[in-house]
Amino acid sequence: MKVLVTGGAGYIGSHTIRELVRTGKHEVVAVDNLSKGHAAAVTSGATLEQGDIRDSGFIEGVFARHKPDAVMHFSASIVVPDSVRDPLSYFDNNVCGTVTLLRTMVKHNCKYFIFSSTAALFANPKTIPIPSDEERIPMSPYGDTKLVVENILKWSEDAYGVKHVCLRYFNACGADEHGDIGEDHEPETHLIPIILQVPLGKRQHVKIFGTDYPTDDGTAVRDYVHVTDLATAHIKALDFMVTKNRSGRFNLGSGKGYSVREIVEAARRVTGHPIPAVEEARREGDPAILIASSKDAEEQLGWTRRFDSVEKILETAWRFHQKHPTGMH
Ligand code: UFG
Repeated sequence: MKVLVTGGAGYIGSHTIRELVRTGKHEVVAVDNLSKGHAAAVTSGATLEQGDIRDSGFIEGVFARHKPDAVMHFSASIVVPDSVRDPLSYFDNNVCGTVTLLRTMVKHNCKYFIFSSTAALFANPKTIPIPSDEERIPMSPYGDTKLVVENILKWSEDAYGVKHVCLRYFNACGADEHGDIGEDHEPETHLIPIILQVPLGKRQHVKIFGTDYPTDDGTAVRDYVHVTDLATAHIKALDFMVTKNRSGRFNLGSGKGYSVREIVEAARRVTGHPIPAVEEARREGDPAILIASSKDAEEQLGWTRRFDSVEKILETAWRFHQKHPTGMH
């Protein structure tokens, strides 16, 4: 199939393009405005179109030139505290951009859409591990933009017949096994790349945000899932839509939670560096525990994970960061 990947130069988008190209079955067009992504992260097997999904003229041109059969939509603003400070720019990029993209898809009779959704839909989950049908109650504008798009997709299926799969990523991490591409955000806010900055000599210590959570060691617990495993979920989701002619929403994680302290400990083992840690107050808006149940994705999409321990995940991240100490530049 011909697959259009928005945010294709970003972290999860670029890893998904790698996997799509590796199947040898798909032709891939990446779309990215390169505001955060890196052109170098787009594998040479894919075509990069530089522009913004909110620019209807640009996106119309891309569809007219490439005639995609399916869209994987990664491009979005992702920093939760920024979304609290400036919600309108988050709704503009994440919601208005998606509407422009969907309008263009409908016009060009493109019927399959895979959406990057998030664990941020679940601020206070009643069930842990969190099932895919857990009530969606975001606690940030960022999470709300993803909820709005999930709802837009439901109505768009009813009205225009666009099939969709929403994939709710828990904590995406790690890097392609070959170490060529990996996580490189500016600014970096995610725990694992921040921890690895210590052995790289870029910071003195890591800050642990909150030691008074109702968890075993007092630090927040998250479900860390390898980016390549997330990438393969997209390929399974595409298959699911096309062969079963169905839509769906799936949580993607490992079903196992690790505390911040456990991740720091694992990084010490993997890097052999003492990685000093300093305890700080909680970061605003952080839930105590987020762990996914991926049962639906396993049963309905046939999704399996290759990277089943945080050590394996950290090893790939560490390999990438050692190979690219200044990131994807
Ligand atoms: N943390 C630290 N120190 C740091 C950075 C993070 O202690 O320097 C802690 C955080 O407070 C949190 C945990 O490490 O408890 C994980 O933090 P990340 O920023 O790596 O990831 P989040 O769980 O906050 O965010 C992820 C995604 C978001 C998504 C969110 C849903 O990256 O896009 O899950 O809750 F919105």
